[in-house]
Amino acid sequence: MEVTNLVVLPAVLAFFVLCLYFITKVVRLGKHPNLNLPPGRLGWPIVGETFDFMRTMNEGNVLRFIQERVEKYDARVFKTSMFGDPVVVFCGPAGNKFLFSNENKNVQVWWPSSVRKLLRLSLVNKVGDEAKMVRRLLMSFLNAETLRNYLPKMDSIAQRHIDTYWEGKEQVFVYPIVQLYTFELACCLFLSIEDSDHISKLSLKFDEFLKGMIGFPLNIPGTRFHRAMKAADAIRKEIRMILKKRKVDLEEKRASATQDLLSHMLVTSDPSGRFTTEMEIIDNILLLLFAGHDTSRSVLSLVMKYLGQLPHVFEHVLKEQLEISQGKEAGQLLQLEDVQKMKYSWNVASEVMRLSPPVSGAYREAKEDFTYADYNIPKGWKLHWNTGSSHKDPALFSNPETFDASRFEGAGPTPFSYVPFGGGPRMCLGQEFARLEILVFMHNIVKRFKWDLVIPDEKFKYDPMLEPVEGLAIRLHPSHF
Ligand code: HEM
Repeated sequence: MEVTNLVVLPAVLAFFVLCLYFITKVVRLGKHPNLNLPPGRLGWPIVGETFDFMRTMNEGNVLRFIQERVEKYDARVFKTSMFGDPVVVFCGPAGNKFLFSNENKNVQVWWPSSVRKLLRLSLVNKVGDEAKMVRRLLMSFLNAETLRNYLPKMDSIAQRHIDTYWEGKEQVFVYPIVQLYTFELACCLFLSIEDSDHISKLSLKFDEFLKGMIGFPLNIPGTRFHRAMKAADAIRKEIRMILKKRKVDLEEKRASATQDLLSHMLVTSDPSGRFTTEMEIIDNILLLLFAGHDTSRSVLSLVMKYLGQLPHVFEHVLKEQLEISQGKEAGQLLQLEDVQKMKYSWNVASEVMRLSPPVSGAYREAKEDFTYADYNIPKGWKLHWNTGSSHKDPALFSNPETFDASRFEGAGPTPFSYVPFGGGPRMCLGQEFARLEILVFMHNIVKRFKWDLVIPDEKFKYDPMLEPVEGLAIRLHPSHF
């Protein structure tokens, strides 16, 4: 009886607190009778249109949610309500441009409460000058010039990964396997963790962590969010242990200041001489481990899907990669100069991200009342930009459903129409890291295998990144060039 009370009472209490919170929000929503708000529906009390939105996430087709409303209301902007908040959805390049160019003016970055609670002191919870400072520090590690030093390491990890998990197999599930590569890279370059057992255990915790990222932040036993909070604590504890040891090793010259992101953050101060606190370092590394492997895992799975389906694209990528290999001595690892030559392969990856963006979009918050497209947007409302509404627009990309890597040749797409990495001052910090890890993997995999898809029309869903519902099984045909 007592045990039941221990579980049920906090759950009931949490439910009432949540109801109260949402009712207050709904009452606040009613306070805008004289404003010309964007057209749209706020949906049911408390849940708004969350379930409609989640349904299209599950179908891997968030664009349907947007298109239905764009057709009904306004092609530029509409309102909805999700996860207890009114949200204004900005559409097309004009919407992207507005949100990306007004950061720190009338809008600022905003993440759902579940993300903010899980990533505590990290960059996702910083705005204005504080955010600029953290971005500068992280970028001093994630820029092309610094990352060039880690490229041979990336190549050797990719080769070892393929030897271990792909070689000798007739069939593999791409999605779970490719995570071992992207996660190992992140663990190695950010924390110098190389032991495969350690990496697999951490990766299991990350799966729990990720599944609670988007949803109601109800921290009671049995919820996805509760499991994610527990996983985040466990990962933090591990990073803290590594950090403590690294500090001693750095002092005693057993570790180098350039060996990974952790050392870099420990030895680098901001312009005023202030060093990042231990808790901030831990939370930012947690953020990068998360942001840095799951998105790339999604892209690599999609690249494998499209290359498996489009033999002429595969042959073109293979030709480019073989030319690069032939210009190198046997066994010589990839350098930045080699990756710069992988132009067609990157156009292919870019077209994959246009057709199937791994991230459906992100959020901002109105810092003050403002007007957009003649509509009033009240302070505090959440604002959403999305990849779909411009990536599939026939006015911006002719025959938008056709795979055509040549769209990215020359000047490429018009500004603000192609936004897989977002834009403006809060644009993805890991774009270069992602480009390198994707191209290094493509280089190694096409030289060793051709493949075909076991389920050619396998569905993908957003959870929260785009992922194959059945894990993307493929049949491997070794080629060994
Ligand atoms: C192909 C892979 C990736 C895609 C498609 C992607 C996409 C995105 C998107 C859409 C955003 C939100 C931008 C916005 O709100 O305007 C973002 C933010 C972010 N990404 Fe990535 N990302 C990828 C890989 C990475 C990697 C490899 C890292 C780290 C090594 C990373 C680190 C971050 C960070 C730290 C932020 C937050 C930036 C801020 O709030 O200032 N991402 N990413």
